[in-house]
Amino acid sequence: MPREHPNTARSRRHFDALAADYDQRLVAHMPAYDEMHDAIMALLPADDGPVRLLELGVGTGALTRRVLQHFARGAVVGYDLSKEMLARARPKLAFAGARIELHHADISNASFRGPFDAVVSAIAVHHVPPRSKPKLFHRLFEALRPGGVLILGDAFRAPSAELDEVYRRQAAKEVERRGMDQQARDSFHRRADRSGGTQARVEDYLRWLRQAGFVSVDCAWKRFNLGVVYAVR
Ligand SMILES: C[S@@+](CC[C@H](N)C(=O)[O-])C[C@H]1O[C@@H](n2cnc3c(N)ncnc32)[C@H](O)[C@@H]1O
Repeated sequence: MPREHPNTARSRRHFDALAADYDQRLVAHMPAYDEMHDAIMALLPADDGPVRLLELGVGTGALTRRVLQHFARGAVVGYDLSKEMLARARPKLAFAGARIELHHADISNASFRGPFDAVVSAIAVHHVPPRSKPKLFHRLFEALRPGGVLILGDAFRAPSAELDEVYRRQAAKEVERRGMDQQARDSFHRRADRSGGTQARVEDYLRWLRQAGFVSVDCAWKRFNLGVVYAVR
């Protein structure tokens, strides 16, 4: 059993503590949450029979549900670190029966049993410790079939402190616009600091993906610090 990185232990505690509030209180206030999921869905291939997908960081299963509805005969193998988040996902995904397989595991070192037709993820990979991120992209390349796609939404660091500040202000405005009160906002930001996430730049992801062997690598959707990268094996 590999030793857990301190950031990973932090992420596990963070999401276990947050799980009960995630769907009701947090998602409603997360900037561009649905838009990012929409962008991921738009990049998926058309429904094409019994495809097999890998999802990293399924959380409470919001994206997973959309993917399972999109691929009526498709199967999803999902991973998450937090037992509590998975406990919220299970009832939501029960409709899919044997088409959903959930693993309670750390994606930084899990071995993914491919081949998969696609890999998807939303706002989870930044929780993978910095040195494990490029290695994860190599493992995902190996797990995909040739021609398979990787669609990865995440939070990114800006190329300068000034732009980071603009992104932070914009996110705060958005959260306020969506009606989060001051107390909830403070708690959200305090918790975010302890989430164990370390954001890379979108260029880092694009470079690591190319180095892993992916082609057609692009940042297909971007909104301030949020982005969706796309790549083909
Ligand atoms: C912000 S939530 C996103 C959940 C879901 N994808 C969504 O769009 O709502 C991030 C999820 O990634 C999971 N996570 C964080 N680090 C992880 C790791 N190293 N391995 C597996 N899952 C991880 C967390 O437990 C959490 O459920």
